[in-house]
Amino acid sequence: MVRSLREEAIRTVSDDPKQTLKALSTELGLLIDGAADEESLYALQVKYLGKKGAVTQLRAHMGKLPPEERKGFGQAFNEAKLAIEQAIERRREALAEAARQRRLGRREDATLLPRRRPAGSLHPITHTRRRLEAVFRQMGFDVVDGPHVEDEKYNFDDLNFQDEHPARDMQDTFFVDGRDEAARLVLRTHTSPVQIRAMLTRPPPVRLVAPGTVFRRDDDATHSPMFHQIEGLCIDRGVGMADLKATLYRFVRAFFGADLQVRLRPSFFPFVEPGAEFDMQCPFCGGEGCNMCKGAGWIELGGSGMVHPAVLEAVGVDPEVYTGWAFGFGIDRMALMLHTVPHLRLMFEGDVRFLEQFPC
Ligand code: PHE
Repeated sequence: MVRSLREEAIRTVSDDPKQTLKALSTELGLLIDGAADEESLYALQVKYLGKKGAVTQLRAHMGKLPPEERKGFGQAFNEAKLAIEQAIERRREALAEAARQRRLGRREDATLLPRRRPAGSLHPITHTRRRLEAVFRQMGFDVVDGPHVEDEKYNFDDLNFQDEHPARDMQDTFFVDGRDEAARLVLRTHTSPVQIRAMLTRPPPVRLVAPGTVFRRDDDATHSPMFHQIEGLCIDRGVGMADLKATLYRFVRAFFGADLQVRLRPSFFPFVEPGAEFDMQCPFCGGEGCNMCKGAGWIELGGSGMVHPAVLEAVGVDPEVYTGWAFGFGIDRMALMLHTVPHLRLMFEGDVRFLEQFPC
């Protein structure tokens, strides 16, 4: 609107070609400097300097002038035209330069640190659990799951726990629905009931790990009533303790990326015979003895052993044909070691100031 008014003014300013030329030059100068892009600049150029353009046509008006003024007007006309052409050229260069600057400005600065978007991340225990799963998958194990609320039969009976075994005590176990003798439910106290569930549903050979949450009525500085374990189970013909130890050794090597030894110490669990606890060489000192392993050079990981024949029988697997081994260890301790976190509690308090330190 403003512009068209101004153009109108240019056209009608005067019948006197000299005045018109002056007015045209001034106004056109403003229009040129205000051109927003190369296209509008080109449009101006066509409109004013083109064959039928206002400036070009002005030349034809020279005839209106008295002869003695014509020479002077011709010169003024040529100068004005040149000035306009130069103004257009200047503006064109300025626009091109501005476009170039914009392009440069939009280019990524490879030296600039990326801005961190506030994003959630995996809980360090979840992260550790997934790494464990990945390592065991690579070693040919299936990853299976089991319910947190478990039949007492799977959590204890079929695993060869005697009726009077202390682990069945209310002191250690969360019972879900009171003490109805017929079918009691518990919060599973370990991942071993997944052994039973797996053997009931898959014929041997079996090779699986079962990570998950477990519950015990423990709550002090070093124990939490809720924690995480991973169970390993292998059932096949002719497997023995040597396979168990080799598997644990290979696992530790793959998980920690270091050649750390594994050792078995005789121990008792109702569902294995023989049973053993297993340790790994301390990944922090390589066995020299340090704070993390309390000078021992070894770190206790969990329990293991050959699956008890009574367990195989409970799930209908013939112990004369098949043997198997199993292991179970805590995931939380692994996470503590991976991230050198001093206290288990930190893992479960859900404090974002802690969790934000694990952007994985
Ligand atoms: N379930 C045992 C525990 O929670 C660990 C274990 C698993 C031991 C498998 C032997 C074999 O302590």
